Amino acid sequence: MGSPDPTADAAKNVELWTQANAEYTDENAKTNWALDEISWGIWAIDESELNVLGDVNGLDVVELGCGTAYVSAWLAKAGARPVGVDITPAQLDTARRMMAETGIEFPLVEADAAETGLPPESADLVVSEYGASIWVDPYRWIPEAARLLRPGGRLAFLRNSTLVILCSTDEMPAKEYLVHAQFGMKRFEFPEGGVEFHLAHGEWIDLLRANGFDVERLIELQAPPDAVTHDRYAYVTADWARKWPSEEIWVARKRVT
Ligand SMILES: C[S@@+](CC[C@H](N)C(=O)[O-])C[C@H]1O[C@@H](n2cnc3c(N)ncnc32)[C@H](O)[C@@H]1O
Repeated sequence: MGSPDPTADAAKNVELWTQANAEYTDENAKTNWALDEISWGIWAIDESELNVLGDVNGLDVVELGCGTAYVSAWLAKAGARPVGVDITPAQLDTARRMMAETGIEFPLVEADAAETGLPPESADLVVSEYGASIWVDPYRWIPEAARLLRPGGRLAFLRNSTLVILCSTDEMPAKEYLVHAQFGMKRFEFPEGGVEFHLAHGEWIDLLRANGFDVERLIELQAPPDAVTHDRYAYVTADWARKWPSEEIWVARKRVT
């Protein structure tokens, strides 16, 4: 069930994210770190509307694939103790620069999100916002998330919907019809580079349960009536995403045995 070559896939993703850092993520970090509240996904739906994470004050959090770590920064501002894990040095450099600029400090770990080296049962919450949730083989990172969480702890992650992946070709935006077979789907290499991983919903549920999680929510995000198609994230139109979910958030809780 694992990747054909996780090291080679990770190297492709480091290359992609080093380039993305030079092109836009470093530039966007200042704005993202200044957010009073996080919003979810490309349609920017506020946490206060969705209540995915709730009160995080006092929680130990690990963010898997933190990028420039603005989600962790927001968690720190909300009273949590985050640790950001990412494999791309350039992204972590930006996070460090933002820490120096803002005075918001928390640990950063340069590692593969599936092999963090962090202590077992050290987190109350593991989050991933388009980090490990799409860039790492779920059969590698979900066991790591389970290892990191204390019993009763929560896992929350945002990813593209399975549906939009099934409708995506090498040409953007996503079609209004299915182009990929669902059975056998998992590893995708898109022309812009990088390797993504996407499972069917039944596979996600089986994988989460096999790793000791109970699924609490699957939030399918809808583009608001006034949303317009994003310039950068043009893989799906606003019109498409008003009709079908283009993104989804999973919330699962590690069972207390
Ligand atoms: C969309 S970005 C991060 C999202 C973050 N919320 C942000 O926008 O800054 C995806 C991140 O996943 C990281 N990533 C990709 N593969 C990874 C791996 N195997 N382990 C850890 N991080 C990984 C990339 O380096 C990149 O920083």
